[in-house]
Amino acid sequence: MTISTETTLLIDPTRDPEKKAVIDRIIDENAHLPGAVMVILNELQANIGFVSEPLQQYVADRLRVPVSKVHGVISFYSFFTTTPRGKHVVKFCMGTACYVGGTPQLIEKAKAVLGIAPGETTPDGNITLEECRCVGACSQAPVMVIDEEVIGRVKPNKLPQSLKPLMEDSGTEN
Ligand code: FES
Repeated sequence: MTISTETTLLIDPTRDPEKKAVIDRIIDENAHLPGAVMVILNELQANIGFVSEPLQQYVADRLRVPVSKVHGVISFYSFFTTTPRGKHVVKFCMGTACYVGGTPQLIEKAKAVLGIAPGETTPDGNITLEECRCVGACSQAPVMVIDEEVIGRVKPNKLPQSLKPLMEDSGTEN
Protein backbone atom coordinates (compact mmCIF):
# COMPACT_ATOMS: atom_id res chain seq x y z
CA MET A 1 0.00 0.00 0.00
CA THR A 2 1.33 3.43 -0.90
CA ILE A 3 1.72 5.77 2.03
CA SER A 4 0.54 9.26 1.08
CA THR A 5 2.51 12.38 1.91
CA GLU A 6 -0.25 13.36 4.33
CA THR A 7 0.03 10.02 6.14
CA THR A 8 3.82 10.37 6.30
CA LEU A 9 3.42 13.80 7.87
CA LEU A 10 1.03 12.33 10.43
CA ILE A 11 3.49 9.57 11.29
CA ASP A 12 6.49 11.92 11.31
CA PRO A 13 5.23 15.30 12.48
CA THR A 14 8.76 16.75 12.37
CA ARG A 15 8.35 16.86 8.59
CA ASP A 16 5.46 19.30 8.92
CA PRO A 17 7.03 22.79 9.42
CA GLU A 18 4.19 24.04 11.65
CA LYS A 19 4.25 20.98 13.88
CA LYS A 20 8.05 20.98 13.94
CA ALA A 21 8.00 24.54 15.27
CA VAL A 22 5.70 23.44 18.10
CA ILE A 23 7.86 20.39 18.83
CA ASP A 24 11.07 22.45 18.90
CA ARG A 25 9.49 25.05 21.16
CA ILE A 26 8.37 22.35 23.63
CA ILE A 27 11.83 20.78 23.65
CA ASP A 28 13.62 24.13 23.98
CA GLU A 29 11.41 25.25 26.87
CA ASN A 30 11.72 22.03 28.86
CA ALA A 31 15.04 20.38 28.00
CA HIS A 32 16.79 21.85 31.06
CA LEU A 33 14.20 20.58 33.57
CA PRO A 34 14.73 17.54 35.79
CA GLY A 35 12.73 14.69 34.26
CA ALA A 36 12.80 16.50 30.91
CA VAL A 37 11.97 13.37 28.90
CA MET A 38 8.68 12.81 30.73
CA VAL A 39 7.76 16.51 30.71
CA ILE A 40 8.45 16.87 26.99
CA LEU A 41 6.64 13.68 26.02
CA ASN A 42 3.60 14.80 28.02
CA GLU A 43 3.59 18.15 26.24
CA LEU A 44 4.00 16.51 22.85
CA GLN A 45 1.13 14.11 23.52
CA ALA A 46 -1.07 17.06 24.52
CA ASN A 47 -0.07 19.36 21.66
CA ILE A 48 0.67 17.00 18.76
CA GLY A 49 -1.79 14.29 19.79
CA PHE A 50 0.60 11.34 19.57
CA VAL A 51 4.28 10.44 19.91
CA SER A 52 5.15 8.28 16.92
CA GLU A 53 8.43 6.41 16.53
CA PRO A 54 10.04 9.09 14.31
CA LEU A 55 9.05 11.69 16.91
CA GLN A 56 10.52 9.55 19.71
CA GLN A 57 13.76 9.35 17.72
CA TYR A 58 13.74 13.12 17.21
CA VAL A 59 13.26 13.77 20.94
CA ALA A 60 16.04 11.30 21.80
CA ASP A 61 18.42 12.99 19.33
CA ARG A 62 17.60 16.48 20.59
CA LEU A 63 17.99 15.48 24.26
CA ARG A 64 21.00 13.28 23.53
CA VAL A 65 19.51 10.29 25.31
CA PRO A 66 19.12 6.73 23.98
CA VAL A 67 15.88 6.26 22.03
CA SER A 68 15.25 3.20 24.22
CA LYS A 69 14.79 5.56 27.19
CA VAL A 70 12.12 7.56 25.33
CA HIS A 71 10.47 4.39 24.07
CA GLY A 72 10.47 2.96 27.60
CA VAL A 73 8.46 5.93 28.91
CA ILE A 74 6.00 5.76 25.99
CA SER A 75 5.42 2.04 26.47
CA PHE A 76 5.03 2.25 30.24
CA TYR A 77 2.28 4.88 30.41
CA SER A 78 -0.96 3.99 28.68
CA PHE A 79 -1.96 7.61 28.06
CA PHE A 80 0.70 7.96 25.38
CA THR A 81 -0.34 7.05 21.85
CA THR A 82 2.03 6.41 18.96
CA THR A 83 -0.50 7.04 16.19
CA PRO A 84 -2.98 9.87 15.69
CA ARG A 85 -6.27 9.33 17.49
CA GLY A 86 -9.48 9.07 15.50
CA LYS A 87 -12.17 11.72 15.35
CA HIS A 88 -13.93 9.86 18.18
CA VAL A 89 -12.27 8.07 21.08
CA VAL A 90 -14.04 5.21 22.84
CA LYS A 91 -12.42 4.19 26.12
CA PHE A 92 -13.16 1.12 28.20
CA CYS A 93 -12.53 1.33 31.93
CA MET A 94 -10.11 -1.31 33.13
CA GLY A 95 -10.53 -0.44 36.83
CA THR A 96 -11.37 -3.38 39.07
CA ALA A 97 -15.12 -2.78 39.34
CA CYS A 98 -15.53 -2.39 35.60
CA TYR A 99 -13.19 -5.22 34.74
CA VAL A 100 -15.09 -7.59 37.01
CA GLY A 101 -18.36 -6.06 35.81
CA GLY A 102 -17.79 -6.94 32.17
CA THR A 103 -15.27 -4.68 30.41
CA PRO A 104 -13.55 -7.66 28.69
CA GLN A 105 -16.87 -8.68 27.12
CA LEU A 106 -17.49 -5.09 25.98
CA ILE A 107 -14.08 -4.96 24.36
CA GLU A 108 -14.72 -8.25 22.55
CA LYS A 109 -18.00 -6.87 21.24
CA ALA A 110 -16.37 -3.61 20.13
CA LYS A 111 -13.65 -5.57 18.34
CA ALA A 112 -16.30 -7.59 16.52
CA VAL A 113 -18.30 -4.49 15.54
CA LEU A 114 -15.40 -2.24 14.50
CA GLY A 115 -12.74 -4.75 13.50
CA ILE A 116 -10.09 -3.06 15.65
CA ALA A 117 -8.58 -3.68 19.08
CA PRO A 118 -7.82 -1.19 21.86
CA GLY A 119 -4.94 1.03 20.81
CA GLU A 120 -6.09 0.97 17.18
CA THR A 121 -8.03 3.34 14.95
CA THR A 122 -10.52 2.41 12.24
CA PRO A 123 -8.99 2.72 8.73
CA ASP A 124 -11.21 5.73 7.99
CA GLY A 125 -9.64 7.55 10.97
CA ASN A 126 -13.02 7.90 12.64
CA ILE A 127 -12.92 5.83 15.83
CA THR A 128 -10.08 4.93 18.19
CA LEU A 129 -10.50 2.29 20.89
CA GLU A 130 -8.59 2.65 24.13
CA GLU A 131 -8.47 1.22 27.61
CA CYS A 132 -8.38 3.59 30.57
CA ARG A 133 -8.06 3.56 34.31
CA CYS A 134 -10.94 4.07 36.76
CA VAL A 135 -12.89 7.19 35.85
CA GLY A 136 -14.60 7.41 39.24
CA ALA A 137 -18.00 6.03 38.25
CA CYS A 138 -17.46 2.56 39.72
CA SER A 139 -21.06 2.22 40.96
CA GLN A 140 -22.10 2.23 37.30
CA ALA A 141 -19.68 -0.48 36.19
CA PRO A 142 -18.95 -1.42 33.51
CA VAL A 143 -18.23 2.04 32.21
CA MET A 144 -17.09 3.33 28.87
CA VAL A 145 -16.28 6.87 27.82
CA ILE A 146 -17.27 8.07 24.37
CA ASP A 147 -15.30 11.24 23.68
CA GLU A 148 -15.89 12.99 27.05
CA GLU A 149 -19.22 11.35 27.90
CA VAL A 150 -19.19 8.69 30.62
CA ILE A 151 -21.69 5.90 29.96
CA GLY A 152 -22.44 3.39 32.70
CA ARG A 153 -23.95 -0.08 32.97
CA VAL A 154 -23.09 -0.84 29.38
CA LYS A 155 -24.28 -4.21 28.10
CA PRO A 156 -22.46 -5.92 25.22
CA ASN A 157 -25.70 -6.27 23.25
CA LYS A 158 -26.33 -2.52 23.57
CA LEU A 159 -22.84 -1.56 22.46
CA PRO A 160 -23.56 -1.47 18.70
CA GLN A 161 -26.33 1.02 19.43
CA SER A 162 -23.89 3.30 21.26
CA LEU A 163 -21.29 3.04 18.51
CA LYS A 164 -23.71 3.52 15.63
CA PRO A 165 -23.84 7.35 15.72
CA LEU A 166 -20.04 7.44 15.69
CA MET A 167 -19.86 5.04 12.76
CA GLU A 168 -22.47 7.02 10.86
CA ASP A 169 -20.53 10.20 11.53
CA SER A 170 -17.95 9.07 8.97
CA GLY A 171 -20.47 7.50 6.62
CA THR A 172 -19.33 4.00 7.67
CA GLU A 173 -22.08 1.47 7.10
CA ASN A 174 -23.14 -0.66 10.04
S1 FES B 1 -13.52 0.93 38.00
FE1 FES B 1 -14.47 1.74 36.23
S2 FES B 1 -15.18 3.65 36.89
FE2 FES B 1 -14.11 2.89 38.60
